[in-house]
Amino acid sequence: MTRTKIVAGNWKMNTNLDEARALAVAIAGGAGAARGVDLAVFPPFPWIASVRDELGGSGVQVGAQNCYIQKSGAFTGEISPWSLVGVCQMILAGHSERRHVMGESDEFVGQKVDATLTAGLTSVLCVGELLGERQSGAALDVVTRQLGAGLAGVDTGHLDRLVIAYEPVWAIGTGVAATPDDAQEMCEAIRRWMTDRFDEAGDAIRVLYGGSVTPDNADELFRRPDVDGGLIGGASLKADAFLAIAVAAGAVGV
Ligand code: PGA
Repeated sequence: MTRTKIVAGNWKMNTNLDEARALAVAIAGGAGAARGVDLAVFPPFPWIASVRDELGGSGVQVGAQNCYIQKSGAFTGEISPWSLVGVCQMILAGHSERRHVMGESDEFVGQKVDATLTAGLTSVLCVGELLGERQSGAALDVVTRQLGAGLAGVDTGHLDRLVIAYEPVWAIGTGVAATPDDAQEMCEAIRRWMTDRFDEAGDAIRVLYGGSVTPDNADELFRRPDVDGGLIGGASLKADAFLAIAVAAGAVGV
C-alpha cells in the first residue's frame, strides 16, 4: 500500500490576520519544493478564508481546528462542518488541547468525526496518551479506546476522507518528541487496529505523528514505514521550518 505523506500545520490560537496572511504567502511560495507531499494548514477560524485566498493555486489545503456536531441551529459560538464546505477541506477532531483543556469526551470527539465526514470534509482524528498513561503501560489501551469511540459512528464509505494523528500529549509543545521507534510502534498499532476493522480501506488511512516535530527530527520520524507524515504545532508558525519539514517528507517519499 502506498500512502502519500501529509505535513499539516496546526497554528492553534496564534497569529493575527496580517501574520496569518504573511505566513500563508510564505508557505505558498515555498510549497513547490516539497514534492509528492500533501500539505495543509489549520489557521484560527476567522482567518481561514483569507489564508485560503493567499494560498491560491499552491495546492496547500486549509483546515479548521474544531467544529460542532450539528448542521445548523441555536448553538451560539459554534461552527458547523457544513458551513465550512467550500471554505476549507479538513477539520481536526480531538486534539489533545480540546480533550484536556476543554474537557471533550471520546464520544463527543466521535460525533465531530462523524459530522465532518458526513458533511463531505476530511476528518483528522487526533489520539494520544498522557505521560502517566505511557509510564504505567496504558498508552495502547488509551489510544485504542479513543479510536473506538472516535470512529464508532463512521460510515465505512467515508474512510477515504479519514486521517489519524497520533500525538502523545507529553510530546506536544514540550520539545521532547517521541523517538522514531516509539512513534513507529504506536502508528503501526493504530494501523493494525484499522485493518482489523476495515481491511484494505484501513490500510490506506494515513497515520501521522505529532508532538515536537522539527526540521531536525522530521526525516528520521518520516522514514518509519507507518508514519505517514506529521501534524506540526510550534514549527508550523515559521514558514522556513514548516517547509523544511515538508521537504523532508517529500524526500522520504511514500
Ligand atoms: P507541537 O504541537 O509540534 O508544538 O508539539 C503539535 C500539535 O499540537 O499538533
